Amino acid sequence: DKRVAILASGGDSPGMNAAIRAFVRSALWENYQVFGIQNGYEGLLENEIRELSSRDMGMIINQGGTMLGTARSAEFQTPAGLQKAAANLNAAKIDALCVVGGDGSFRGLLALSEFYKGQVVGIPGTIDNDIPGTEYTIGFDTAVQTAVEAIDKLRDTALSHGRVFFVEVMGRKSGQIALSVGLASGAEDVVIPEEKTDADVVAKRLLDGRKKGKRFGIVVVAEGDDSGGAFKLAETVQQKVGFNIRVSVLGHIQRGGSPTSHDRVWGSRMGEAAVRFLKNRMTGVFTAMRGGHIIPAYLIEATVGVRAVEPEMVQLVRIMGS
Ligand code: F6P
Repeated sequence: DKRVAILASGGDSPGMNAAIRAFVRSALWENYQVFGIQNGYEGLLENEIRELSSRDMGMIINQGGTMLGTARSAEFQTPAGLQKAAANLNAAKIDALCVVGGDGSFRGLLALSEFYKGQVVGIPGTIDNDIPGTEYTIGFDTAVQTAVEAIDKLRDTALSHGRVFFVEVMGRKSGQIALSVGLASGAEDVVIPEEKTDADVVAKRLLDGRKKGKRFGIVVVAEGDDSGGAFKLAETVQQKVGFNIRVSVLGHIQRGGSPTSHDRVWGSRMGEAAVRFLKNRMTGVFTAMRGGHIIPAYLIEATVGVRAVEPEMVQLVRIMGS
């Protein structure tokens, strides 16, 4: 009876496939007809809608990326684009739309719901873990793990040569990835957008470390930090400390790879929860993790600002790196 559709939007993240798979199979379990929209909102504008079966979901739980493709669409965000997208959903008789993506994708979904009168539900999927209202976004764990593995490798060279490395990680305007990566990789320091970065302070921490006998160092730099990126900060700090600093920007490597079990489990749980919310006639909500449970939270909550970092976490990273 019910016809539901799912799409992925914005940057891909490992575990999105687990969420898609769980959404599709849970919806089929309810005897809904399920459709996949290829390439995000852009594909919706192009009418790239196809029916999905349980078999289509085979062999994807272990794969990074998204089997539905994804996109960042400029056309969709115009009133004409939103109208066209709504018309395409209506023409395909889609009763409900689920979007897996970040805050930008949720903003798009809210805008669409002004024109589209079916139910809408979101699943937070982004490596950044920056969405207000949820303690977790799918892909974060894998991205952190990937960055930590890379830093473990850099550490070998850092130790052998007695070098300091500045490692830039993703996260847009949020320091969540940088903090977890810094803590898990034993970094000397972390610079994040949530704090004003002072090159003198960074330099002093490194020099203090030298005095204590540290032969090498790792500084994790969040890409959104106000210092203007790892290269620029390293150049300034280098002049102050008087020794050479090497820079490594991890970039999109952090977005790929097979999802960790954590991302597979929470991707699956959120995919199922999204169907449950639709079954319970909810709309305008997303699957938010709070206190280890999944609850429905209003999409609008997710679109205001960036999720705050915990001061205790920042302090802990500093203590550990001292
Ligand atoms: O939101 C995920 C993310 O990887 C951010 O960490 C990063 O700033 C951005 O996407 C990069 O976007 P793109 O893949 O479009 O270059």
